[in-house]
Amino acid sequence: MRDTSAAPKISRNFLTVLDFEPSDLERCLALAAQVKADRSLGRQAPTAHALEGRHIAMLFEKASLRTRSTFEIAIRELGGNVIALQSDVALGQREPVADVARNLERWVDGVVIRTFKQEMLEAFAAAAPRLHVINALSDETHPCQALADMLTLTEQLGTLRGRTLAYVGDGNNVAVSLAHAAAMLGVHVHIASPEGYQIPHSAVQQATSVARFGARLRLFTDAADAVAGADAIYTDTWTSMGQEAEADVRRPVFEPYQVNDALMSLARPGALFMHCLPAHRGEEVTSEVFESTASVVFDQAENRLHCQKALLVMLVAEAR
Ligand code: CP
Ligand code: NVA
Repeated sequence: MRDTSAAPKISRNFLTVLDFEPSDLERCLALAAQVKADRSLGRQAPTAHALEGRHIAMLFEKASLRTRSTFEIAIRELGGNVIALQSDVALGQREPVADVARNLERWVDGVVIRTFKQEMLEAFAAAAPRLHVINALSDETHPCQALADMLTLTEQLGTLRGRTLAYVGDGNNVAVSLAHAAAMLGVHVHIASPEGYQIPHSAVQQATSVARFGARLRLFTDAADAVAGADAIYTDTWTSMGQEAEADVRRPVFEPYQVNDALMSLARPGALFMHCLPAHRGEEVTSEVFESTASVVFDQAENRLHCQKALLVMLVAEAR
């Protein structure tokens, strides 16, 4: 078990990137790089017993490959026990959200939740102050994804201060958390979205208020303008989970926002292509770009594991 006596106090929960101070984010990324390097040590790794005797429940109300798999593996590799709750728990339907939270609080140390409304996560956390609640994606934010994205960018670019990250597409959960994390690390963020699909004004204000080292957040409607001089271009699905009924309306609106070779050529030479996955080839990204040497999408996916391990160590193992 690590010596955690000197660990600084951090937020009990991770519902948004804003639960982290910039120093927490930097420490999480450094720890993630360390656990990544240590992974080959297996049970000899310094964090292999960090969650020994601890239980973490997982509750997914939406589909998942990456988040579910990487949290399960992370918990096991930290020596903890995973409880995979089924969606028939039916948060707020079979019994009130607060009652589910107050039951789980009696049995487990933490809960990883993927759900619809961010407010549900907040209500859950408020009802069970002894639990560590981790947001595995909500309609509004996807903070664990942003951790992996920042680790991937750091691996690829070295120092992030003064770099430019262009996000092209829907101003969704992924875009919001990306803007929060990037601004905190001194990355300029350009977001190009169609009118009516830009990130919420509140998220712009939040990102601006946590921005450091002169990082600026700029919104665009023209994808070409947003990617000029960018070190990386990021996109995500045009239709997020829960919005399936809007897919036919959205497709033509987002067509000018496809990340293709022509758009990539307007960014900085050697610019990276990023995507949280799952990707829809021929929609938000072409096969050519997805499969190109610029694409770091599977590094992002791998880094989900290392970042979530670091997050669990900081939130749960080091908690006093
Ligand atoms: N990127 C991501 O969160 O993937 P999943 O939806 O498969 O978990
Ligand atoms: N914006 C997407 C991300 C999936 C990981 C969604 O919410 O469906």
